[in-house]
Amino acid sequence: MMKKVVIIVVLMLLSIIITTTLSMSVSSTTTDTVAAVTYDERALLINGKRRVLISGSIHYPRSTPEMWPDLIQKSKEGGLDVIETYVFWNLHEPVRNQFDFQGRSDLVKFIKLVGEAGLYLHLRIGPYVCAEWNYGGFPLWLHFIPGIQFRTDNQPFKMEMQRFTTKIVQLMKQEKLYASQGGPIILSQIENEYGNIQSGYGSAAKSYINWSASMATSLDTGVPWVMCQQADAPDPIINTCNGFYCDQFTPNSNKKPKMWTENWSGWFLSFGGAVPHRPVEDLAFAVARFFQRGGTFQNYYMYHGGTNFGRSTGGPFIATSYDYDAPIDEYGLVRQPKWGHLKDLHKAIKLCEEALIATDPTSTSLGSNLEAHVYKTNSGVCAAFLANVGTQSDATVSFNGNSYHLPAWSVSILPDCKTVVFNTAKVNSQVVNAKLTSHSLEETSDSSGAFSSGWSWVDEPVGISKSNAITKPGLLEQINTTADVSDYLWYSLSTQIQGTEPFLKEGTKPVIHVESLGHALHAFINGKLAGSATGESSSKRSLTLETPVTLAPGKFTIDLMSLTVGLQNYGAFFDTVGAGITGPVKLKGLQNGSTIDLSSYQWTYQIGLKGEDSGLSDGSSTQWIVLPSLPKKQPLKWYKVIITYYFPNLLGFLQV
Ligand code: GAL
Repeated sequence: MMKKVVIIVVLMLLSIIITTTLSMSVSSTTTDTVAAVTYDERALLINGKRRVLISGSIHYPRSTPEMWPDLIQKSKEGGLDVIETYVFWNLHEPVRNQFDFQGRSDLVKFIKLVGEAGLYLHLRIGPYVCAEWNYGGFPLWLHFIPGIQFRTDNQPFKMEMQRFTTKIVQLMKQEKLYASQGGPIILSQIENEYGNIQSGYGSAAKSYINWSASMATSLDTGVPWVMCQQADAPDPIINTCNGFYCDQFTPNSNKKPKMWTENWSGWFLSFGGAVPHRPVEDLAFAVARFFQRGGTFQNYYMYHGGTNFGRSTGGPFIATSYDYDAPIDEYGLVRQPKWGHLKDLHKAIKLCEEALIATDPTSTSLGSNLEAHVYKTNSGVCAAFLANVGTQSDATVSFNGNSYHLPAWSVSILPDCKTVVFNTAKVNSQVVNAKLTSHSLEETSDSSGAFSSGWSWVDEPVGISKSNAITKPGLLEQINTTADVSDYLWYSLSTQIQGTEPFLKEGTKPVIHVESLGHALHAFINGKLAGSATGESSSKRSLTLETPVTLAPGKFTIDLMSLTVGLQNYGAFFDTVGAGITGPVKLKGLQNGSTIDLSSYQWTYQIGLKGEDSGLSDGSSTQWIVLPSLPKKQPLKWYKVIITYYFPNLLGFLQV
């Protein structure tokens, strides 16, 4: 079968939108046996039986529904038992009380596909999700509710959080998606890593977390709830670990199992940052150590990262790609040797399951940095994990009378306490990977004819061009002004310079000075680009631009285009950091070094761009100008290309 992928790319400055459609068909089987999910100190129990569960995160809106069956199938083949996903509030309720569960937002369909493939699902409702998702998943309208304070003991916030959480739980119940109803959902999460930031909220944090716990449990889902990174999670909520390594984690009660909800398989990509890579040997080591030391549930965050479509990316400065160096890459292809090595690891762990669930391990030292953990059932079934946690030297150890070679930073798995079936540092899976080739702006087709269209473009006017602009004294904070309906806000000021102005005297070297909370800025003087600036990272998102200007008698126009590049998604009070040109804006270096502060002048504001209104940003417009004269290195152009490429249904090979 040949799969056809069509990618439409529209670029404007920092804004990139990729839409992918992919056609395929996958058959699956439905399981609808009612299952009771409980837990004890060792594991989750499904129908009374302790389980060792391997899980992986796939966020449904980060791929297309056409891709879902294949992603789920590849997860199953990779040895996963569970798919973990967040629920994205701002996707489902973009306008208060108006819900969307269609297309990439079709949560029910995604969960049903997971169930039909015979896998379980962990539903992380949040509804704060972090996730490098715009505003941590909160809809922007939440910010405008009078008296609201996010993620604390605040009545307006709690009412909204409860309303949305209840809505999702009711939807799941209606569709019979909980395991207690015969569906795939075995677990749910409330909040997300609140423990990491709760000190900022003082004593209200504790009452908020207690309220969250009882609100969630009162929804009566029939399956356990977890809170990740929440050391004080109240019973019966299970507190779980997130991190690169979680083998040292212990839950807050000896009645709760040791669970790992986020094992970071790589990391997210930021604009200007290096492409993250986590070697599979290290990832496998972390997983094996976790099971070695008593863990029974482990989730890869991400197993397939995918794409931040549209304006969904958080930030600021988080890239459109959410590939994450995950075992399945952004395009849905298995990444080798990561996927294969982990598959081998999962098989080895599953061979130990009977012993793993029977008891806590017994550990012994085999020398410095060398440890053995043994699990044994009453009937003598035995599994062992041998670890060399030293990073420098390989070692040879003696265990049960036999000798074993342990590479540095590795774990060997012995499902019968004798034979090594897997070592985390020894990669045997295939290493051939798909390769994407890049093409220059002018290229209309490659030799294989894979491209179906060349680049086309449209101009965006500088400054105010829409009829709904508003004029106000002073500089406005951006997010409060745009309500995030667009990344763009124009700040425009137009004035007349009289020939008699003393600052026109020769010898003055005027500069315009602009201070912004971020995230990026283009300054136009009299219609021409004078300078640009961007923040650097989420902790240094603010910026200052200083650029020389020429002052002459006549009309003098300043047009400042301020851009957000994904709204903040992490940190205490992340919703209040703000963006845009809050000033001051000054003309400096006038006669005798004097300054004119323009901050409190009458500024005219335009929310969004003309091209956005006419559908340029989502590919629906028909105004595109085609080659041959593609303008390059000129400000304010929209660019579009449609790329069509084919790849055969071979494991890991992509022809572009
Ligand atoms: C975690 C968070 C996730 C994601 C991850 C980094 O702290 O819970 O939602 O943001 O970091 O990718």
